[in-house]
Amino acid sequence: MTVAAVRRADFLMALAYATDLATGHSRDFALRSCVLAMRFAEVAGLDESMRRKIYHQALLRYIGCNADTHLLAAAWGDEITLRRELHHIDMGNREEFVAIFVRAITRKLPGASPDELAKAVERGLAEGPQVNIPILSGHCEVAQRIAERIGLPEEIRENLGQIYERWDGKGLPRGLKGDAVKFPVRVVTLAQDAIALIDHLGFDALKAKIAERAGGAYETELAELFLAHCEALVKGLDGPVDRETILALEPLPHAMLDEAECEEAYLAIADMIDMRMPFTFGHSRAVAALATAAGKRAGLPAADIRAVRWAAYTHDIGELAIPVSTWMRAGALTERETDAAHLHPYHGERALSPLGGDGKSVAALVLRHHERLDGTGYHRYAKASDLSPAARILAAAEAFQTGREARPYRPALSDGAAASKLRGAVREGKLCPEAVEAVLASAGQPARRDSAERLSGLTPREIEVLRLIAAGHTAKEAARQLDIAPKTADNHIQSLYSKIGVATRAAAALYALERGLVQAGMSAA
Ligand SMILES: [Fe+2]
Repeated sequence: MTVAAVRRADFLMALAYATDLATGHSRDFALRSCVLAMRFAEVAGLDESMRRKIYHQALLRYIGCNADTHLLAAAWGDEITLRRELHHIDMGNREEFVAIFVRAITRKLPGASPDELAKAVERGLAEGPQVNIPILSGHCEVAQRIAERIGLPEEIRENLGQIYERWDGKGLPRGLKGDAVKFPVRVVTLAQDAIALIDHLGFDALKAKIAERAGGAYETELAELFLAHCEALVKGLDGPVDRETILALEPLPHAMLDEAECEEAYLAIADMIDMRMPFTFGHSRAVAALATAAGKRAGLPAADIRAVRWAAYTHDIGELAIPVSTWMRAGALTERETDAAHLHPYHGERALSPLGGDGKSVAALVLRHHERLDGTGYHRYAKASDLSPAARILAAAEAFQTGREARPYRPALSDGAAASKLRGAVREGKLCPEAVEAVLASAGQPARRDSAERLSGLTPREIEVLRLIAAGHTAKEAARQLDIAPKTADNHIQSLYSKIGVATRAAAALYALERGLVQAGMSAA
């Protein structure tokens, strides 16, 4: 069954939600800035082509900003807080910029003496361009590549290559000036700064700040047009914006994605999430490959296999809300960090649930990817009855893949050790045995020897006898096949009947079938 076509704008909103989290922006920041920029386009009488560029620039401006975040975190500490503090300042104003920088260094080096701090600030300012310019260039390039993968044309992508450039030439990484900065970039920079100023300083201070920056960050003509219509432009934009508003604003024709294009869009999101830190590189693709193969092995319907693959691509989208500096630190998370980390499935569900097509199923799986059968997972403490076979497979695939990847606070487990850990979680009642075995078999792990617990404490010989009698052999035939005395085979049968709580061969056969001990077509000769 193919999935219904999905509005590409829905994917843009999912990406916008995720990048708002990663960049420390307020709720619906990109969506609000899109509304503002499109209102501005209306006031300025811009044509459909320009409006299309502005619409996409507003929603996608920061989609490349996950690249190399670990370098940013290594240089500056908590990068989300730093980004939040930078939003409302004039980046071309050295005094304002240095003040934020000093605050970041002070946060990064708690307990440092004033002398040590002064040296760190001096060094940071001297090395700043060397560190930041390649990172910001990378953000632009990655944004353009992601945009290409979700099918956006060059005329839209080229604007994402200038996201940090300014009218006065004080932007980065190329210091483009005046008309060399493309018009949609200039409009969206002004609109997004306005939303950040509303968030930080309120409506009253907005006009003064925009006027102050006219001729600097923004060309005077644009700033004047904005100020002339300011009240109408920003009306109601201090609160959330709904999905329908953004869908309605998309210039015609509305772009639709078919199943293959959705696959690529979900995959682009996977790569965007994983490129934040070197140790998660390729993680979501690997989880998806395992979950897809396990889903097939477990006989899930095609629609469920597709949903679990797309959920695997995007399962950690909500992790963008947690600073990279948190993950890069060796040692345990604080309680507050743990609480924040445990909410990432919630953010993931929120980012994805508005998606059409299979979006709701995908979001429901993402929401549950850290839940456990015994209610010890997070963040909803769901129980077995709330966890579908697909959800169980995703949880097992995620746990196995994460186990065999290194993290700054622990080395990678070998595949065998990761498999043992998963089977341990099965014994503890946390993970589903069938899902775990399907994942491990898909990863090329040898099938487990059925544990005594799963088979009610049966010995290996009793299991062999059970397999044979379940397949229709008599006790005598089983004894012959196993090269044991008939009396011994009888004893094994009585013992295993007692252990599994049955009284007849038929019930024992059903027990064996339920546990996968009897293969299809296996029968007595
Ligand atoms: Fe996760």
